[in-house]
Amino acid sequence: MRIVLVGPPGAGKGTQAAFLAKNLSIPHISTGDLFRANISRQTELGKLAKSYMDAGNLVPDEVTIAMAKDRMEQPDAVNGFLLDGFPRNVSQAEALDELLESEGMQLDAVLDLEVPEDEVVKRIAGRRVCRNESAHVFHVTYKPPAKEGVCDVCGGELYQRDDDSEETVRKRLEVYHTQTEPIIDYYKAQGLVVTISALGKVEDVTARAMEALKRVV
Ligand code: AP5
Ligand code: ZN
Repeated sequence: MRIVLVGPPGAGKGTQAAFLAKNLSIPHISTGDLFRANISRQTELGKLAKSYMDAGNLVPDEVTIAMAKDRMEQPDAVNGFLLDGFPRNVSQAEALDELLESEGMQLDAVLDLEVPEDEVVKRIAGRRVCRNESAHVFHVTYKPPAKEGVCDVCGGELYQRDDDSEETVRKRLEVYHTQTEPIIDYYKAQGLVVTISALGKVEDVTARAMEALKRVV
């Protein structure tokens, strides 16, 4: 199964992707996580990506597409994947279509997470992420760790992402509306979009997403 997850920053894409990927037995591929892993390893790609991410802008398509392609070609992704944060504009969506077409593959669904803007701002403001593993995500109010500042899963230190400052979040939301939202219409034209509300408890959103996906794939 090949699924694209789309939604504004802080919608809960990473949170949901972890459960959905497990339920569907496909790898969770997050371009944001791949960039953050490069930043912590201090690679050239990480240094380049950081300058764009800290400003709330998109990393240039050329490097993003190459990185996503490389990840999608890993052996664990041959039977499917859940893309989170990619594609993020129409040219990335076109590049993904070309890549899939050249392999005789296609997407099965685009899951669109809908959340009002005031809620995403609250979710981002309280988010804390593990230094060891960016999939370990907490929230000071909605999902507090047992011990403040410490990851429940691996004991790693929890920190606030550099791009979660109020000013950068505002920019990321603007970029989402202008550059990413148009991919929803792009995929609507292909009949692939399933929209669900991402409000409510994490497990309720997962159940809603599984139900919606069952109906289309
Ligand atoms: P990326 O890492 O993809 O960030 P994003 O899209 O802005 O999404 P977030 O990670 O902020 O949020 P999320 O939806 O995953 O929410 P989460 O589950 O953490 O990208 C970062 C940057 O990288 C971009 O700005 C760009 O520069 C670059 N980049 C990445 N991909 C790119 C691409 N393709 N092209 C170019 N540049 C690219 O949840 C948020 C919080 O809410 C958490 O604290 C969580 O615990 C809490 N929460 C989740 N669900 C619920 C719920 N149901 N109720 C209450 N709280 C909840
Ligand atoms: Zn951890």
